[in-house]
Amino acid sequence: MSDKAVPDGPAVFDGDAWWRDAVVYQIYPRSFADADGDGQGDLPGALARLDHLADLGVDAVWLSPFYPSPLADGGYDVAHYTDVDPRYGTLADFDAYVAAAAARDIKVIVDIVPNHCSAAHPRFRQALAAGPGSPEREWFLFRDEPNNWQSMFGGPAWTQTPDGQWYLHLFDSAQPDWNWRHPGVTAMFEDVLRFWLDRGVSGFRIDVAAMLFKEDGLPDVVPGSQGAPLAPGRSAVPYEHQPELLELYRSWRKILAAYPGPRGTVAEIWFADPAQARPYLTGDGLAQLFNFRLMPLPWSAAEFRAVIEESHRLARETGGSIPWVLGNHDVPRMATRFGIDQDLVRAPTADVLLGRVAVDHELGRRRARAATLLLLALPGAAYLYQGDELGLPEYLDMPAQARQDPMFERTGRAFIGRDGCRVPLPWSGTSAPYGFGPGGTWLPQPADWAHLTVAAQRDDPGSTLNLHRAAIALRREHPALGDGDLTWLDAPPGVLALTREPGFTLMVNFGPDAVPLPPHHDVLLASGPLDGGVLPADTAVWLS
Ligand code: GLC
Repeated sequence: MSDKAVPDGPAVFDGDAWWRDAVVYQIYPRSFADADGDGQGDLPGALARLDHLADLGVDAVWLSPFYPSPLADGGYDVAHYTDVDPRYGTLADFDAYVAAAAARDIKVIVDIVPNHCSAAHPRFRQALAAGPGSPEREWFLFRDEPNNWQSMFGGPAWTQTPDGQWYLHLFDSAQPDWNWRHPGVTAMFEDVLRFWLDRGVSGFRIDVAAMLFKEDGLPDVVPGSQGAPLAPGRSAVPYEHQPELLELYRSWRKILAAYPGPRGTVAEIWFADPAQARPYLTGDGLAQLFNFRLMPLPWSAAEFRAVIEESHRLARETGGSIPWVLGNHDVPRMATRFGIDQDLVRAPTADVLLGRVAVDHELGRRRARAATLLLLALPGAAYLYQGDELGLPEYLDMPAQARQDPMFERTGRAFIGRDGCRVPLPWSGTSAPYGFGPGGTWLPQPADWAHLTVAAQRDDPGSTLNLHRAAIALRREHPALGDGDLTWLDAPPGVLALTREPGFTLMVNFGPDAVPLPPHHDVLLASGPLDGGVLPADTAVWLS
């Protein structure tokens, strides 16, 4: 697998690969659309709603896990890597989905979860049964004594088995970590990649991509260096960014390169500092790393600009691709983030972590619409999370007994967890389940979502859904949009303005006061009503 001869340097061989300027839509299958009435979304449901994606005009869809799973972590606890959970359908349903997507010119990316599996995975069961010292235990990280590592979900990262040994799980105790120094693990995942490539996927989203290898000897972390779970800004810890990862991803890239394509990977790596991301983006390692750095930001022109500048520089210098992201299944929805006191975004209090916070929904929705026009005008690729095209808010006051995310219990109920952004989508109708399916919904939906359904927004020219459609259509047509460069324009404080050649200007007003528009020929699109020649507060505009 190793090829030490590969020099580091700009990423060379993905040239104008499709993923460099794609708009990718993330489906969280359990919450997208339900065909069989069990209250959980499924692949036939997603197939029936494929025209929603075609109407949006996206280039690709990323399917979060649909593999057999006890759902201890919403499917990121995989019991079988090369099958479909019966809740979600069959492999034939998957094939039908890929074919129907291809017929609409939509590529399909699937999730690969290599850091850990489910405790129900046959190999983990065999390891438990075989006992201490057995070769079966070598596939995982069993030890006689735990170290001091904490789980990303709260609590210790080790659980004791009845025979006295402990196993490592960086996430839930139902998610044992694989031992990536075992050649069997390497070979198994190569087969998993090939299995899905053979079925026609255009790439993979790599879950927890920075943590697969752990430092030899599993040394304790320096007390205090483990920060907030899944958040940027943590210092280096012995289970992240180990050098072997680069070699592994090079070998994966070779596997993908053997297929007609090109086919890519997008890695879930939270990097606080560009220096952490740089090694992955140079040479022929990962095609893409998510750029999550816009997600924790408050609504602030200066803070957005700083991240955009730094990220764009990193992409230019490495030749790598760092798609922009404003939402996914792990973070509170932006329509709510931008609708609370923005100091609480910078420093969430205990009440905020419990969802006890005042939300100005109208303000949040206006800013989220402006942020969408920002996202889709930046150089490079962009990911959209299902429901953000409807302007859905976070369901903050979901009843505690309905919550299912393991983070809720593992943090001793100090953090409500991620269920609020995973609520089944509202498609039509005036009350739950809003057309989600013929049965109920696995998580409750708020009672006041009638105006947010796809059906309610479809024919309203001012809807958030139609804003997305118009922006993606323009992005496809306009020669300046997609991959490329940008130039900042001078702008008053609180305002971002940039141009892209040929002939495109973006202006976003983060501030409280209306500002004059820069010189332009036409208004291509605006996130809210323009008042004559001025750009109102919390509004973005595309100009030519
Ligand atoms: C990733 C997923 C998240 C999951 C975790 C553990 O961060 O996005 O949903 O809980 O990995 O697999």
